[in-house]
Amino acid sequence: MLNFDFSNPTRIVFGEGVIAKLGKLLPEAAQVLIVVGGSSAEKNGTLAEVRAALGTRRHATFSGIEPNPTLETAMRAVAQFQDGGFDFLLAVGGGSVIDAVKFIAAAVRLPGADPAAAWELVRKGGRGVAQAAPLGVVLTLPATGSEMNNGGVLTHAAEGAKLPFSSRLLFPQFALLDPTKTYTLPARQLANGVVDAFVHTMEQYLTYPVDARVQDRFAEGLLQTLIEIGPRVVASDTPDYADRANLVWSATLALNGLIGAGVPQDWSTHMIGHELTALYGIDHARTLAVVLPAMMDARREQKHAKLLQYAERVWGITEGSEEGRINAAITQTRNFFEGLGVPTRLSAYDLGADAADAVVTQLQKHGMVALSEHRDIDAAKAREILGLAI
Ligand code: NZQ
Ligand code: ZN
Repeated sequence: MLNFDFSNPTRIVFGEGVIAKLGKLLPEAAQVLIVVGGSSAEKNGTLAEVRAALGTRRHATFSGIEPNPTLETAMRAVAQFQDGGFDFLLAVGGGSVIDAVKFIAAAVRLPGADPAAAWELVRKGGRGVAQAAPLGVVLTLPATGSEMNNGGVLTHAAEGAKLPFSSRLLFPQFALLDPTKTYTLPARQLANGVVDAFVHTMEQYLTYPVDARVQDRFAEGLLQTLIEIGPRVVASDTPDYADRANLVWSATLALNGLIGAGVPQDWSTHMIGHELTALYGIDHARTLAVVLPAMMDARREQKHAKLLQYAERVWGITEGSEEGRINAAITQTRNFFEGLGVPTRLSAYDLGADAADAVVTQLQKHGMVALSEHRDIDAAKAREILGLAI
């Protein structure tokens, strides 16, 4: 096992009806800026529940954070927070809203509301974050794990850049996870959530063995749970509480730092996927479903031992040659995503060789030329992977 330094201060309050506990988690005198996305939280009553739970605390709402949140929109919330004298940020939504709120929390501590200075925080990966406003989360979409981690991803629309940032100061103080809040999600977002959580687990599991037995078994448990409940969650017209509860907790645990402590991590599927979203607007999880099978294929040598372990322990593949078992595991992964209605080829989005070239140019522009657990994915290797994804 590798050395590690792990702490996660986010308090999780889980279960049906937990939004009512919001008042107990916030300081009595908190002045709260609620941040939401489009109209879903208003329409399904979550926002009304949140407002009621705030009691007499002064609050206002910023609405309009878009999927794949932009600097441009988030800066308007920065101005509202600063001008309105608020001191607590409450994200009500999925990964996009939570990520935007993390950025806003850091940006409000800079003087004025200067987009260039704030973007610098992101461009430096969050290393320049010296202070942040406190934030909490009401989760409505299980997928990213952002509710219990210290990272975010922000898009600079004018520059066509989508970049990750993180800081120890950006963990939510608390996250309220009510599985019934997922009942209004369309099948497409549920499928995205299953795929995103699955790929987060793979980024931290499918590297090379370091004899980290607990992390491996934990990751395999998450993958198997998602394989078991994913198709039911997406296909079912009537939501099942137990399945939703398991989906929510799997997605949170897939990226709260626990399974990644003490093991090598990859993240190249994500970095390539972010460029696909920035260029072509494809949903985050959908980019991952395109890149991951190609990544497994192109890096079968570096990932050989873990691919065999994945084949056996996750899919029960024990027969045949080593290459045959690896091929079967890649096929099972592809079929799992496709079975959820998530395509695994660029061609499904009418994209081909030109798009592969464009993504590589963007990766070079963003300095993403030494990706993966071995830092051996340069521009040429990324192009090869994208070629396999067409
Ligand atoms: O905007 P509204 O109207 O609220 O609708 C949203 C949005 O259109 C809708 N939605 C959310 N909860 C709903 C609902 N619709 C009905 N009922 C509900 N209960 O779902 C749509 C997508 O929401 P979004 O927040 O964009 O989805 P997701 O949670 O998948 O977040 C994706 C973003 O997170 C980033 C991605 O790059 C992307 O920008 N990620 C963040 C990570 C992190 N912070 O750790 C890691 C991930 O790898 C990922 O990169
Ligand atoms: Zn992701």
